[in-house]
Amino acid sequence: MTSYKELGLCNTVDLFKKAVAGGYAIPAYNFNNMEQMQAIIQACVETRSPVIMQVSSGARKYANSNLLRNMARGAVEYAAELGYKIPIVLHLDHGDSYELCVDCIENGFSSVMIDGSSLPYDENVALTRKVCEYAHSRKDYVSVEGELGVLAGVEDEVSSEHSHYTQPSEVQDFVKKTGVDSLAISIGTSHGRMKFKPEQCTRTADGVLIPPPLRFDILAEIEQRLPGFPIVLHGSSSVPIEYVKLIEKFGGKLSDSVGIPEEQLRRASKSAVCKINIDSDGRLAMTAIVRKVFAEKPDEFDPRKYLGPARDELKKLYMHKNKEVLGSAGQA
Ligand code: G3H
Ligand code: 13P
Ligand code: ZN
Repeated sequence: MTSYKELGLCNTVDLFKKAVAGGYAIPAYNFNNMEQMQAIIQACVETRSPVIMQVSSGARKYANSNLLRNMARGAVEYAAELGYKIPIVLHLDHGDSYELCVDCIENGFSSVMIDGSSLPYDENVALTRKVCEYAHSRKDYVSVEGELGVLAGVEDEVSSEHSHYTQPSEVQDFVKKTGVDSLAISIGTSHGRMKFKPEQCTRTADGVLIPPPLRFDILAEIEQRLPGFPIVLHGSSSVPIEYVKLIEKFGGKLSDSVGIPEEQLRRASKSAVCKINIDSDGRLAMTAIVRKVFAEKPDEFDPRKYLGPARDELKKLYMHKNKEVLGSAGQA
């Protein structure tokens, strides 16, 4: 059994308090491998940003939980070696069972999400409360994120055919009954690179899809009912058109890609939204560069020669997010 404090990590409690008060959001970047972890740490150290490194259940299966725990320890040491100690959280993304949350907590996670959003309300409450009771009873308090409302979109392990917005009338009761430290809500974001169907969007003259705006009215009502309570947005990639074009230029097929415009995420960051989840944009950045290297250097077969440039692009992307979108730069 390993406590996150032994690894040099922190939970989200103080970070979220400061983020809500300061009007910025902490980046929650998913990672599965060393290059992604390096890019996250390099970008966040350079921009002096706190960071949540998050791991999905699929990532855990892919990378191995012992390795992930030691990668998190390594991330803390790596940040210090780069010259600046930033707060680092290791978070379980979309935990789907009590047992998985416990296993992660016993393996050094400082924060977990229990995603009961697809369950009937009472079952979501009961499951989330059970996880909170365990996580909060630890000597080193582990923070818990719950979710109300269902996001649309499909990822490997996270899928939903039918989305529905969070009902503001439920949020106070949910927070009170469960004891969660933060609440993920559904206001129009969704997972993956196709966040809306083309028929939900308008198009620019050159065919680029413009999505419908997020439901800031629902967010405002939630904030009114839970003043100062930490809110989380999943599915917050912007799906940069430059990456989509680069991938398509070098043989990929990503038609009808559309994300959440950055200015809307910037606006959300200034509210009680204090954690913004980004995974797909990183996947696009890495894929674009790997495809480019393969296309331009067909004789290249040293993985460092394509994963290295992909890592550099990822770092650039994260620095941009921290500085220009989330406002977390300079907050560590
Ligand atoms: O919300 C889901 C994340 O993008 C993780 O995706 O389950 O394919 O690792 P994954
Ligand atoms: P994106 O697919 O928009 O990057 O969302 C990631 C996410 O919500 C991880 O939990
Ligand atoms: Zn998510």
